[in-house]
Amino acid sequence: MSWFYEEWIRPVLFLQDSERVHDRTLKGLSRMAASATLCEAVRGWLDVPGLPVEAFGLRFPNPLGLAAGMDKGAVAVPVWEAMGFGFSELGGVTCHAQPGNPEPRMFRIPAEEALINRMGFNNPGAEVLGRRLEHWHRSGRWPGHPVGINLGKSKVTPLDRAAEDYAASFERLWGWADFFVVNVSSPNTPNLRQLQDRGALDEILAALQEVNGRLARGGVGKPILVKVAPDLSWEALDDVVSLVGPRRLAGLVATNTTLARPESADPVGRLVYRETGGLSGRPLRQRSTEVIRHLYRQSGGTVPIIGVGGITGVEDAWEKVLAGASLLQVYSGLVYRGPGLPLEIVSGLRDRLGGGRWTEAVGSGAARID
Ligand SMILES: Cc1cc2nc3c(=O)[nH]c(=O)nc-3n(C[C@H](O)[C@H](O)[C@H](O)COP(=O)(O)O)c2cc1C
Repeated sequence: MSWFYEEWIRPVLFLQDSERVHDRTLKGLSRMAASATLCEAVRGWLDVPGLPVEAFGLRFPNPLGLAAGMDKGAVAVPVWEAMGFGFSELGGVTCHAQPGNPEPRMFRIPAEEALINRMGFNNPGAEVLGRRLEHWHRSGRWPGHPVGINLGKSKVTPLDRAAEDYAASFERLWGWADFFVVNVSSPNTPNLRQLQDRGALDEILAALQEVNGRLARGGVGKPILVKVAPDLSWEALDDVVSLVGPRRLAGLVATNTTLARPESADPVGRLVYRETGGLSGRPLRQRSTEVIRHLYRQSGGTVPIIGVGGITGVEDAWEKVLAGASLLQVYSGLVYRGPGLPLEIVSGLRDRLGGGRWTEAVGSGAARID
């Protein structure tokens, strides 16, 4: 199926501007999402096998999820499950609606199977997203897999009021998702990455846990995870790990896009690499895996890690599992491999696992390789 997409569909899509293709695709998927029959047909056609995984109190039908940024406005919620994803992360959403950066702001480097984006959190805002999620819940079309929301900071909110901004989005959306990811690692909002500093992050997490405690009314709050940048130093990553216990973090997401630019043998690649923004896809794979391995070791394997960055096939996915990822996500891989990717990866992971246990595979290569 990926072969068909790569030979016949991708060349046509890649003739067009990458954000336009994304918008048209999402529009098509939102129409599909409105039809239960179509979603069932897609589910039956792709027929992704089960590979159940449990993490932070949630049950995932398989460990491969949709990464943040693909469905920022929650327009295609039931489709991701029909495509065979074991979970989806919607957003990034900010408290205030915002248009994002001027276009063009999304670029392909086909020879490297990479993307550069500087979207800048274009999204409809927490209020509108909340209403859309409510609609999916009430329409009976809410997916059976866990749904997370990626929370970003509104551009208009100054850094020293970031905690309030995140907390307001969290409070608005609390009832409508299974877990939340605090995104302090996007390179496209000025100074956002400073919020990965221990003090600033601690303040944000304290504010979120206050909301969590209040809304859960003595029950278990929603799992809160933090998404880190691949460009952090080991010491800065250790600072994030040190907050896991005190702020009851459910897990870490590693990683967001990188500001680094690798050497490229491709002349087009060298040109596009000059664009400002975050790089994702194949060139990110290795660094993302190193970060996962570091986080796994530093946390003693006690914190679930969602591994994301440069997964374009089962080899890359398995590498991240061995490094310590309990769950995985893709974005760029979907652009380059197409909708058959979940089937290919989940089937491949089942084969790799043989009859073995998922929990034993996770992190089993973390001690060996450096
Ligand atoms: C166009 C685009 C938009 C993105 N938007 C977000 C976002 O809103 N929040 C976030 O945490 N990550 C965002 N990401 C990062 C992805 O979730 C993911 O971490 C990154 O692309 C690495 O995975 P990949 O190599 O599979 O693409 C975005 C990525 C792309 C390409």
